[in-house]
Amino acid sequence: MTDFEDIVVATTAEHVLQITLNRPKARNALRTNLLRELAEALDAAAADDDVRAVVLTGGEKVFAAGADIGELAALDLKGVVEDARPGYWQRIAQFPKPLIAAVNGYALGGGCELAMHADIIIAGDDAEFGQPEINLGILPGAGGTQRLIRTVGKPLAMKMVLAGERIDARTALTAGLVAEVTAREATIERAEALAKAIAAKPPMAVRQAKDVLLKAFDTDLTAGLRLERQAFTILAATEDRAEGLSAFMEKRKPQFKGR
Ligand code: CAA
Repeated sequence: MTDFEDIVVATTAEHVLQITLNRPKARNALRTNLLRELAEALDAAAADDDVRAVVLTGGEKVFAAGADIGELAALDLKGVVEDARPGYWQRIAQFPKPLIAAVNGYALGGGCELAMHADIIIAGDDAEFGQPEINLGILPGAGGTQRLIRTVGKPLAMKMVLAGERIDARTALTAGLVAEVTAREATIERAEALAKAIAAKPPMAVRQAKDVLLKAFDTDLTAGLRLERQAFTILAATEDRAEGLSAFMEKRKPQFKGR
């Protein structure tokens, strides 16, 4: 695996990759180099048949404090227009395999937006989510306005973005932003267990399911149902479907091969 400066990438279990944001002194602020490395690591994971799920974490203390404010301050209008970062965010958003975020501590600004790029968020009971960009005279720039309102609904999204107020892990759970809250020490372990469980499922079905679920954000119900039917039909051609159905009927454990 390539050596990175701002992230650590490790295989932690069969078919499971863990990516840890690694700028602890800057509270894992997402400088351009970090986003570039993250996009590269996810592109590599997407192309690697051996990887079936990825856990993304900032470690046990902080997830990420958002965009690197020093970098933002150095950008004029031309710099913002020509910024490479939106391209990296797009690559992160297009990662086709399950991405599970293990969030401890602050997930603010771009950090909250990065967590929302994950398919599932597991939060430690110390986690805090927020979009404080308003305090800097800007607004969320990596999908925060669009993904947050679709996930937690208008009242909470408005409060978080307009007032810059943070929410704690329990509120995030009630609002549907996170899937589970764990003890702080158990967050990464739980995300890893979930990644392992997903990695043991038939990968083509997992991939189709992720793709169709995310389409719900972009389509109306009729178009979404059509896409679901298409994906359901595509899977009829897979060996894993035949294996899954036979194994159930023969009362044995399925052996999925990813074909
Ligand atoms: N960018 C750059 N550096 C940051 C940073 C950031 N987003 N967040 C923290 N740091 C740095 C601090 O400057 C400080 O550096 P020094 O030690 O060199 O002084 C170090 O990290 C530790 O920070 P604090 O002393 O502030 O640590 P704390 O534990 O007291 O507070 C915090 C932590 C609440 C996260 C606080 O640092 C904070 O509020 N950070 C900024 C959060 C923010 O506004 N995020 C939005 C950024 S804009 C954005 O994300 C745009 C977008 O949509 C993409």
